[in-house]
Formats: sequence, structure tokens, C-alpha cells
Amino acid sequence: MNIGIDKMDFYTPAQYLDLVDLAQARKTDPNKYLIGIGQRQMAIPSLDQDAVVLAANAAEKILSAADRQQIGLLIVATESGVDQSKAAALFVQQLLQLSPYLRAIELKEACYGGTAGLQLARDFVAQHPQQKALVLASDIARYGLQTSGEVTQGAGAVALLVSANPRILAIAPDSVYQSQNVNDFWRPNYSQEAMARGKFSEEVYLKMFQNLWTQAQAQKLWQPADLQALLCHLPFSKMGLKAVRSLQGQLASVDYERLMRRFQASVQYGQVIGNIYTGSLYLSLISLLDHDTSLQAGDQLACYSYGSGAVAELFTGTLVAGFQEQLHPHSHQKMLAQRQRLTIAEYEAEFQQQLVTDGSTQELTQSDPTAPHYLTKVEAHQRFYV
Ligand code: CAA
Repeated sequence: MNIGIDKMDFYTPAQYLDLVDLAQARKTDPNKYLIGIGQRQMAIPSLDQDAVVLAANAAEKILSAADRQQIGLLIVATESGVDQSKAAALFVQQLLQLSPYLRAIELKEACYGGTAGLQLARDFVAQHPQQKALVLASDIARYGLQTSGEVTQGAGAVALLVSANPRILAIAPDSVYQSQNVNDFWRPNYSQEAMARGKFSEEVYLKMFQNLWTQAQAQKLWQPADLQALLCHLPFSKMGLKAVRSLQGQLASVDYERLMRRFQASVQYGQVIGNIYTGSLYLSLISLLDHDTSLQAGDQLACYSYGSGAVAELFTGTLVAGFQEQLHPHSHQKMLAQRQRLTIAEYEAEFQQQLVTDGSTQELTQSDPTAPHYLTKVEAHQRFYV
């Protein structure tokens, strides 16, 4: 029985910052951001959009009434959680009007959480093939104004509906994975912003990639000649580019060139949305399928998932017949084209806004009228959504 991604879509806030504007404001050569980092724009969330809202807005795009009844497992993978105790999935369950008879949990392991969710969902469906699992990978990447990580921020969520006989991508049961306690990137409970040893984090990302690639070859999980694309977690597109480039000389040039060409299609959305942490790898999957019409049913894709701290996994999926009918490139292009470009002053003001933490009431206005869900208010230390 094939199990994998039956439907998928993403949501990103309706505002963005152009990185040439950021480069000028930070007195930096724009080519450092455009070429050196490989990013062009980044999504800027408003105060009414937290990880719950982004997740729910992504999920609304794919769920039918029947899906809502068949989902037996709901996972929200996030490192931007809104509560230390209660799962973000419980807010989302209500917003999406899902069945009460499901397991609703939140998963955290930095940018790896979405993959942990997908693999758990796969196992769940293997045991319960009549049910579906919904995995929502939702995050807001914040590093702070005038930090070296500032240019690698972003916000958004990807929704993956996992089922038996999926209509997009069958996930292979065997993969290679690795965990190791390292301090390359973290966010203490008291901090709104991530802390990163930037260059070290790049080293760990690449070292784990090479290690898992070697292991997959040793275990004969696939032959490079059989891979039609290699997708990577994209904190910024140059990071994934370095991973693909690290294979140069290890592959036949025809295989290397094919993976490199398809990699360029996979970074198109990430380059204008920025890092969305847990959802980033899956945003690159959507970007690849939306931009490369030469892919066919039966093509095998490798996916490299990396979450700081650190956990990494290399797995494969196979495109299934008719996958093209499940894609929505025009609605994605429309969503991105309709975004509002912020000035540096507007971006900095947005960044500095905070929700009250003293138990008082704060009403919020909806920043994106095209999206169904937003945070309406906080009151008595609780969040209220529509
Ligand atoms: N034209 C073209 N390129 C230029 C340039 C110019 N004018 N000026 C600089 N560059 C290039 C540099 O040569 C460098 O290229 P290489 O990486 O290929 O050497 C690149 O631009 C970056 O410049 P710096 O080396 O000066 O790097 P920086 O100090 O600005 O920091 C960063 C870059 C480390 C990525 C930083 O943005 C950061 O810390 N980001 C957050 C951490 C992160 O994303 N880590 C990724 C791995 S961890 C992970 O994947 C999990 C996750 O999501 C966080």
C-alpha cells in the first residue's frame, strides 16, 4: 500500500520586505543578500498572525468536508508555539471544525518538526488506512533587527494531508536519519528571537547531509541516476545550493546537472518568502512541482530535512499518476503577487509590535482579509481566534 502526501498547499502573510531595501538600510551590498545568501524578499507577519493562524490558513486550502471527518491525527509542527503547555493543534482543530475524535498534538525539533510529523503520519496511516493525518508545519523565523540572521527571516505554513493511495507523493518506508546534541541554533523560552552560531550551523547542516548521503548509498536505498530531484531544507537558498554543490565530483555530471537544474525550480518560493523553518522543505517541494513541468509520475525525489540542535533525515518520495491535477500554481502566484511591499520603517514597526503579557485585553485587526483566520484578541492571558 502506498502512503504519502494526498494534498498539500501553503499560506504566507500578505506583506513582504524587499531585500534590496533591507541591504540599503543596513549599508550592505545588495548582492550579498541576492547572491551571497540567495534571497530576494521575505514575508513579514502582522501581530494577528501567529503559528496557529498561519497553520489554519494553509489547511483551509486543501480540506474537503469528508477530509475533516476522516482525519484521525492532527500534528502542528512548530518552533514558534504560542503556549508552553497546550498544543497549537487544539486551536487549529476548532478553527478547521475537525472531528473531536482525533489525536491533536504539537511537535518540536526546530526545522525538522515537519518531517517528524510526516513520518509519524505515515506510520499512523499504515496502521489505520481508512483514516487520514493532517500535518501542519508552521513558523515565524525571527532573528532580530540588525543581526546577521535578519536577512534569513520569513513566515508561513505548509499543510500536508497524508493518506493511503496518495494523489501526489508516495513516501518510501526506508530512510536514513541522525540526531546529535549540538548548539548551532536555539531559542530559550524567554527569548522572542532565535540565537544562532551562523557559520557553525551551516557546517553541521552540510556535515549531516554528507553523512546521510553516504549512508543511503551504502544501504543502497537509491541510485543517484534514479533521482530526478534533490530537495533541501532552505533556511536561505544558498544553504541548499551548498548541499547540492557538495555532490559535485561524487556524481556523474549528467546526474549532477539534473539535480542542480531542478534545485533552481525548488527555491523559487523560498527566495521570496524566506525561512519558514519546519515548512521550508515542503515549500521547496511545492515550488519544484509548480515550476518544473518536465517531472512525471514515477519520478523519485530525495528530500533532505535538517533541524538545528540537530536532527536530519534523508528520505525519498515517488510522484504518483495524476499528481499534476493536485497542484495550484496560479493561486500561489496570485497570493504572492497580491502582497504589499513594506518600507523599512513599516517593517521595523511591525517587528517591534508585541502582544500584551499582563493579562489585559488587546483587540487586533485582520491584516489579510483574503485569509479566513486571524487572532482577534488576547484577554486574561488567552488567545481568541476566528
Ligand atoms: N556579493 C556576493 N556575495 C557576497 C557579497 C557580495 N557583495 N558579500 C558577501 N557575500 C557572500 C559571502 O561570501 C558568503 O558566501 P558563502 O556562504 O558562500 O561563503 C555569504 O555572502 C554570506 O556572507 P557572510 O559570510 O558574511 O555571512 P554573514 O555573517 O552575513 O551570515 C548567515 C550569514 C550565517 C547565513 C546568517 O544569516 C545566519 O546566521 N543566519 C541564521 C542561521 C542559519 O540560517 N543557518 C543555516 C543552517 S541552520 C538551519 O538550516 C536551520 C534553520 O533553519 C535556522
